Amino acid sequence: MKYKIILFTTLFLMSTFCFGETKLPHVVILATGGTIAGSAASNTDTVSYKAGELGVQTLIDAVPELKNIAQIDGEQVANIGSNDMTSDIILKLSNRVNELLAKDDVDGIVITHGTDTLEETAYFLHLTVKSDKPVVLTAAMRPATAISADGPMNLLEAVTLTSTSEAKGRGVMVVLNDRIGSARFITKTNGTTTDTFKAAEQGYLGVFIAAKPHFETKIDKLHTSNSIFDLSGVKELPKVIILYGYQDDPEYLFDAAIENHVDGIVYAGSGAGSTSVRSDRGIKKAENAGIVVVRSSRTGSGIVPVNKTLPGLVSDSLNTEKARILLMTALTKTKDPELIQQYFHTY
Ligand code: SIN
Repeated sequence: MKYKIILFTTLFLMSTFCFGETKLPHVVILATGGTIAGSAASNTDTVSYKAGELGVQTLIDAVPELKNIAQIDGEQVANIGSNDMTSDIILKLSNRVNELLAKDDVDGIVITHGTDTLEETAYFLHLTVKSDKPVVLTAAMRPATAISADGPMNLLEAVTLTSTSEAKGRGVMVVLNDRIGSARFITKTNGTTTDTFKAAEQGYLGVFIAAKPHFETKIDKLHTSNSIFDLSGVKELPKVIILYGYQDDPEYLFDAAIENHVDGIVYAGSGAGSTSVRSDRGIKKAENAGIVVVRSSRTGSGIVPVNKTLPGLVSDSLNTEKARILLMTALTKTKDPELIQQYFHTY
């Protein structure tokens, strides 16, 4: 028996010495709430549930397979429905992600989030995280208590993606429903279905098959370590609001924006960012008051081209809510309209 123990110990030490220890990547899960942490009274109720009920450790414990993929730590940043997400929280989240990724022993970050405004947080991090290490947001359309809840598989795939060396340098990604989307393009397209996240024009970066990622493409736009935006000293984000264009849209909404001292306005115009005569006057008035105005398209996809006959800057291919995120971020650096327009073409 004594000899057997000596033999096994020797073999173990030799294998460690010869082949090195297989060390799993270190992934930190930052939880913010949402349906993935939601709980309902019945397992068929996917509507009248409370988002942001379960803590991060409960989400981790629900997927024991995570332990085979990464060494996991969890932190609770918030526990809210993402309809209540604020600029203050996403700024805090960005700072925390940067702080963690600056450590040599952290290999990547997963963020659990509500689906409703996930694309805004994802794009904000895409602009403000200063690292090539993977940052992946995930979520769920069915609460954790539902039959066939989608959260556990989404979390497993998000951690798997974060632990994959191929995921480095691709910017912030979003994983749901076996699809890998870029934070720059992905958007929520349906209020209830599990295949809600899509990018109509640009498609997905890749897919998951049997819980393994397969990449198809990369994105060209600037992001993360190539981004010039550094918010480390910023205490508060500029105030940027969204106004919506429609038949009879009133000019007084612009007056209200001026009276409330906003820093920027994104106007979701019809078609390719068209304005009504009233919003046209409103935009000019706002610009004269020193407010930067960007026109986006209420269609939700396609490019808003530069049109010299209309006032305001253009959002390029960013949808309205992401245009707001870029304008807030850009205004931390400059108020120069030409420079800001350049950012809209390159980020
Ligand atoms: C939310 O966005 O927090 C609620 C909806 C969801 O997570 O699917």
